[in-house]
Amino acid sequence: MKLNRLHGLLLALPLAVLAACAKPPAPPSTAVAAFVQQPQASVLDLMAGPVDAAADALWDAVGTESTAKGPVDKIPQTDADWAKLRMHAVMLAEMGNLLMIEGRVVARPGQSLENPPGEGDLTPEQSLAEINANRAAFNGFAKVMQDTAVTSIKAIDARNVDALLEAGGALDEACETCHTRFWYPKATAPPK
Ligand code: HEC
Repeated sequence: MKLNRLHGLLLALPLAVLAACAKPPAPPSTAVAAFVQQPQASVLDLMAGPVDAAADALWDAVGTESTAKGPVDKIPQTDADWAKLRMHAVMLAEMGNLLMIEGRVVARPGQSLENPPGEGDLTPEQSLAEINANRAAFNGFAKVMQDTAVTSIKAIDARNVDALLEAGGALDEACETCHTRFWYPKATAPPK
């Protein structure tokens, strides 16, 4: 009798464990979801940091370089060059997602633009008000930047230098269109 009961317990235990494992994972609670989206950086932090660095890496990777011996085509040479470039393109693509997170300020308290503002430029506070009032448009521009970064990733994976160059041009336009709308709406020509 005693032995039988113990036997039954030993059998029931692994079955209970199995049943617990087979259960689908519980959806994350809203508390966890809210915790995931806690922007720590300002838009300016992202722009002056990872966005600019990644875009510069993509623009600098290909093109024509003037040397003492005349113009020379610049292309990534080694596997490591391509891998590094891909990392930058991936980072830029993900920056698109970060820009779409709501609740991010344009400037932290006391933070100002690295370059002096031009006449009629939106201050970070004005820019934030515009973004909050036109979130769909802002997200749309972020998505265009993301799409061009994804085009760059594909060009990198195919080691297609022409496509990479073309994506670089589209990227420049993606930056400009958002800046023209949310940074310097009164500028007639994009500032240098
Ligand atoms: C979705 C919109 C959006 C896109 C896309 C975007 N930016 Fe910005 N960028 C902003 C906003 C908003 C500001 C700040 C405007 C203000 O302060 O009034 C800014 C500011 C900047 C600054 C100024 C930083 C400083 O501290 O002086 C740089 C540099 C910059 N962006 C680079 C880029 C580059 C490079 C790209 C493209 C690869 C890009 N941005 C794409 C919205 C965008």
